[in-house]
Amino acid sequence: MSDRFEITFAPLSSDLEATTVVLAADGLELGAKAKDLDGKSAGAIGKAAAAADFKGKYKSNIEVLAPAKIAVDRLIVAGVGKTSTLTETQIIDLGGVIAGLVLARKGSSASIVVDVDATDDFSAETIAALIAQGAMLRHYSFKKYLTKKPSEEGADEKTSLKRLIIHAAHPDKAKAAFQPLKAVANGVNLARDLVNEPANILGPVELADKTKALEKLGVDVEILDVADLTKLKMGSLLCVGQGSDRPSRVAVMVWNGAKGNKKAKPVCFVGKGVVFDTGGISIKGAAGMEDMKGDMGGAAAVIGVMHALAERKANVNAVGLIGCVENMPSGNAVRPGDIVTSMSGQTIEIINTDAEGRLVLADVLWYAQEKFKPKLIIDLATLTGAIMIALGKEYAGMFVNDDKLADDLSSASKATGEKIWRMPLDKAFDKAMDSKNADMKNAGGRWAGAATAAAFLQRFVQKDVPWCHLDVAGTAMDGARSDINASWGSGWGVRLLDRFVADHHEKAEK
Ligand code: BES
Ligand code: MN
Ligand code: ZN
Repeated sequence: MSDRFEITFAPLSSDLEATTVVLAADGLELGAKAKDLDGKSAGAIGKAAAAADFKGKYKSNIEVLAPAKIAVDRLIVAGVGKTSTLTETQIIDLGGVIAGLVLARKGSSASIVVDVDATDDFSAETIAALIAQGAMLRHYSFKKYLTKKPSEEGADEKTSLKRLIIHAAHPDKAKAAFQPLKAVANGVNLARDLVNEPANILGPVELADKTKALEKLGVDVEILDVADLTKLKMGSLLCVGQGSDRPSRVAVMVWNGAKGNKKAKPVCFVGKGVVFDTGGISIKGAAGMEDMKGDMGGAAAVIGVMHALAERKANVNAVGLIGCVENMPSGNAVRPGDIVTSMSGQTIEIINTDAEGRLVLADVLWYAQEKFKPKLIIDLATLTGAIMIALGKEYAGMFVNDDKLADDLSSASKATGEKIWRMPLDKAFDKAMDSKNADMKNAGGRWAGAATAAAFLQRFVQKDVPWCHLDVAGTAMDGARSDINASWGSGWGVRLLDRFVADHHEKAEK
């Protein structure tokens, strides 16, 4: 958990912590404060840099231990590269790299001196704030069930860092610039917490209840229980959870933040919240099944982005809906061959009880459209293994029925570095979902498993509603660790969707 960790901002002149990081741009260009430290310590930075052939290259670093005459124990010099060409994601990543350098050393606090000049693209305080966001994301780890204290033999030292002080020329401005970035990082870390939490602790009821914490940020939360869902005729969603001892839920989070137009049609986010996916009667193999505690990664991202929007008081109307179920085999579980009726009235023949995510989304998508008449819908789901065969763990698959929505998501993807790749929606894939016994079946054939799943979902999207399905099976969990993520549960999608809203649904469109 990332709590009890704080990032504060202080002037360049204030005292430095025992571990201090300073920055050096290409050509070993130091800022005023770093130059001052170098001078006072008889050129310690310059000498160490020469000895290590360090020139300030992006993401490189050197360490000066016990420099003479300055009140720090270790000075880490982190390379920034060519500052004039730095992009936003590069600056955030740099913050992650710096936090990684600090975390690799002992100590409960550290200073980062950000005495760089503004670039054409970023003010000095924005640079400090982006570095802080990267550090906050990198610092996250899921250690709540480790019972050894950080100081004990064999325990992980990385839990020890409690405070990062960012020293900047205008700390108040940097702090203000950090507020919205912190809101987003809090959303990401919340999503990570939810994905990492094991299913014995986080059942469908518990997952739905997690949304209530957003009420203190001004989000209206409604939780639908089995009686409500039965009344709404959500036979598709309900059949998935019927084999579990733990009842299903749908949670609805409403953020009415649009200034001047409280009645503006909302942007809707829908998430798959399968707290554990055994496969049901079509049971999965044992190998790696523990990973299926992360089958609520889509729902976690929806909760995370709703948190981010509310904490930073986004100027938008947005609704998040999550379908929370557990897919278990039992004497009461849904069987292959069973036919269920969805809220839309369409009937579904269950071919494979392991194709459960789409059954959950079918009813939540329908409900979202009936209840909120949304401007657009984006669903996120750890839906298919097939998307990982296609795109690996680097890209999420994007299936989208509207080119403007595709473009807007792609630009948010480029801005945040959360990568998406457009995949096809096609009549041929839709045809693969036809059933002899019902309006459709829940599993297509062997080929194009991610695309036939998307085609199934599209049958629950009403005419003229711009809709995008993001298959996040590869990216929500167990992806490549990065400069800003050291966690199994990645929180993927929160930054993407927050940015999508910020760039395309808050400001006036160009
Ligand atoms: N939750 C899985 C997909 C998944 C697999 C996510 C691995 C993350 C990692 C999903 O419910 C599933 O089981 N999909 C099946 C569908 C098939 C039965 C049509 C799949 O992809 O094999
Ligand atoms: Mn499944
Ligand atoms: Zn699943």
